[in-house]
Amino acid sequence: MSVLIIAPGLKSEWWASELSRHDPDLEVCIWPDIGDPNAVEYALAWKPPPGALATFTNLKVVFSLGAGVDHLLTDPNFPTRVVVSRVVDPYLTAGMREYVLLHVLRAHKNQPALDQQQRDHIWDDRAHELRQADEQTIGILGLGELGHNCAVALAALGFDVAGWSRTAKDIAGITCFDDRGGLDAILGRSRILVCLLPLTPETEGILNADLFSKLPKGAHLINAARGGHLVEENLIPALESGRLAHATLDVFRSEPLPDAHPFWDHPQITVTPHNASITDPRSVARQIVDGMACSARGEAVPNTVDVKLGY
Ligand code: NAP
Ligand code: GLV
Repeated sequence: MSVLIIAPGLKSEWWASELSRHDPDLEVCIWPDIGDPNAVEYALAWKPPPGALATFTNLKVVFSLGAGVDHLLTDPNFPTRVVVSRVVDPYLTAGMREYVLLHVLRAHKNQPALDQQQRDHIWDDRAHELRQADEQTIGILGLGELGHNCAVALAALGFDVAGWSRTAKDIAGITCFDDRGGLDAILGRSRILVCLLPLTPETEGILNADLFSKLPKGAHLINAARGGHLVEENLIPALESGRLAHATLDVFRSEPLPDAHPFWDHPQITVTPHNASITDPRSVARQIVDGMACSARGEAVPNTVDVKLGY
């Protein structure tokens, strides 16, 4: 039995040494140096080349090296018979909470506009009227591991927080909406909108001109989920018409963001390089080794996704 690491661009040697630290008997190979493909039963994967996983006929479990699994399931040849497990980790959750708090607070305090005033040498302490936290309405699209945690942390700061999910939720201190019927309701009250949805056929392109038109005028958008959620050509017109005040984007349809992309230099767009929260092998390797042991014992592997739903 061997464990494959197939994550071009990630630090595969680091993952291999963290796996071996937790289980020195594991036979770990790093793609494309794989030995006997029939011996591979488990794979740790991040953006594997399309079609590559289908070649491992005895593969039992694929461990996504992130919370999202769209990088696996969008492969038309992904072997849907295998179990897919994803990262659910306190450090990953904390990283996202920190990112969302940082950028929600920037929006709440009108910091992007104040940054522009500094560039223009303008001293104007009244130009941007501020709200109290309990007057500031925040909407979180996605109330899963990350969205739920961010919603609760924002509510603890006194913000008026709502969240939207596919199935109904009851979370103390959070106004919960669900399903398509609840989408317009959360949009209508969200001056700051945070996207923490998984990328699935249902959510692809959800951040579009129609959605922006349902937000209060001058809303802030924070997308820390996936680039495929945003219809990119709808964003700059929404910013320049005043429909949106600012967008903070961590994720893009094409990553790295191409050098000539208009988002880089737009004064109302903050770009971060898909680092809102990054999986830490020191913490997640343990979870994966335990998951492999569960599978070997015939037990359910933790943190599996529903391949049909796509998350
Ligand atoms: P999760 O636990 O699977 O939660 C997903 C949430 O989205 C759930 O509340 C789910 O509803 C909701 N949802 C799914 N499809 C929906 C639909 N069609 N309509 C309404 N709600 C829907 O995922 P997570 O761990 O919070 O992670 C979310 C995403 O964050 C990941 O998929 C990944 O793309 C992204 N991410 C980005 C970074 C970064 O650095 N930028 C880091 C980590 C993760 P139910 O609760 O009803 O199922
Ligand atoms: C990062 O984007 C993740 O899905 O964990």
